[in-house]
Amino acid sequence: MTALWHPQAHMPSVEGNELVFVRGEGGWVWDRDGRRYFDVPASLWYCNIGHGRRELGDAAAAQIGALESYSCFDRQASAPTLELAERVAGLLPIPDAKIFFTSGGSDGIELAAKLVRRYWSALGRPGKQTIVSRDRSYHGLHAYGTAITGIEIFTEGIGRLISETVRVPATSIEALARLFEERDGEIAAFFCEPVIGTGGVIPPPPGYLEEARRLCSVHDVLFVADEVITGFGRVGAMFGCTRFGLEPDVMVMAKGITSGYIPLGAVAVGPRVAEPFWRADSKLIFRHGLTYSGHATACAVALAVLDILERESIVEQAAALEPVITEALSPLAFHPLVNEVRSGVGVIAGVELVDQAVAERVRSRCLEAGFLMRVITAATLQISPPLITQPSEIQAIVDAIASALDREAAS
Ligand SMILES: Cc1ncc(COP(=O)(O)O)c(C=O)c1O
Repeated sequence: MTALWHPQAHMPSVEGNELVFVRGEGGWVWDRDGRRYFDVPASLWYCNIGHGRRELGDAAAAQIGALESYSCFDRQASAPTLELAERVAGLLPIPDAKIFFTSGGSDGIELAAKLVRRYWSALGRPGKQTIVSRDRSYHGLHAYGTAITGIEIFTEGIGRLISETVRVPATSIEALARLFEERDGEIAAFFCEPVIGTGGVIPPPPGYLEEARRLCSVHDVLFVADEVITGFGRVGAMFGCTRFGLEPDVMVMAKGITSGYIPLGAVAVGPRVAEPFWRADSKLIFRHGLTYSGHATACAVALAVLDILERESIVEQAAALEPVITEALSPLAFHPLVNEVRSGVGVIAGVELVDQAVAERVRSRCLEAGFLMRVITAATLQISPPLITQPSEIQAIVDAIASALDREAAS
């Protein structure tokens, strides 16, 4: 009987069937029985630079040896925290951004949601509280994230968490424009994943993000980019906003910032939102902060990850992999068990199957063949391997899916 309550799991089915990993290298992980699997979802979309990089352990050990961390509250900080803030700010499509660190993505969303509301009240417009998000979007599972997600399984039985939230259809710019007209003066922010991830991998229709950003400016709505998945190279550019030429007011990051080697998230705040709190004569304090905001060891590891991203041109590798993935996956679209293949924005794709039960069985068949797969919303296989994946490995993933689909169709 395990004592571990596995997240997102039906525990009676897990009991006695735990899959326990003990080692990783590049795109591969090994279980405790010595079986090797290719990590098709990069764990939870985070392992961008591949598993088993010893130098990140060295970076953590060096920092812990010097000073594991120190609180960043008030005027305190530690050296890697300051350095990482500068480094991240320098990568962003936001001039002069201020960086607030968190422990992960949900924390960042919570912070961003409170900050946008606090910003409007600081400007004497407390009526602007509503947060708009898209159907099928996922923004983590703290209270704000759960309240604004567009995936119903996460809200079932929870009751109303935050009242001022509205969702719009995922890809309709007309619906967004209509809502902004109807609720003029009430909306604080639009939260938006550049590519919807957990909701099934839904890339934006051409022009959608650019027009959404423009509408936000016109209606005085803050544009909050949730780049928890898309940040740090996954979309073939440093950020989704970089790729689509957007300057968000606020950007939430996590996962790729450390490639999952240690938990860390960050929120970048553009000059407009920072100004009331940062200007010399301001009396305001943003009353938010977490024990581990800016944890020094996490920041030291993030700095070492950013070194690797640069040294090995990993963002460029991701861009080069994009057409390889699209081409390799395209034949699957003709399989009778496949509804749709969605790809074309970096190293993130979805293969939507005809139903959930089929998707789960295909996943099991792939696992037997040595390919770890994840099923996300709407019976979709998540294809988001590490950005260092080789073209031959992409083909091997697709071959494994094709073979699993054929065997499923024949059964
Ligand atoms: C787009 C997006 N936002 C927020 C989150 C929440 O991040 P975390 O699980 O680190 O709290 C996730 C997690 O998958 C995500 O995909």
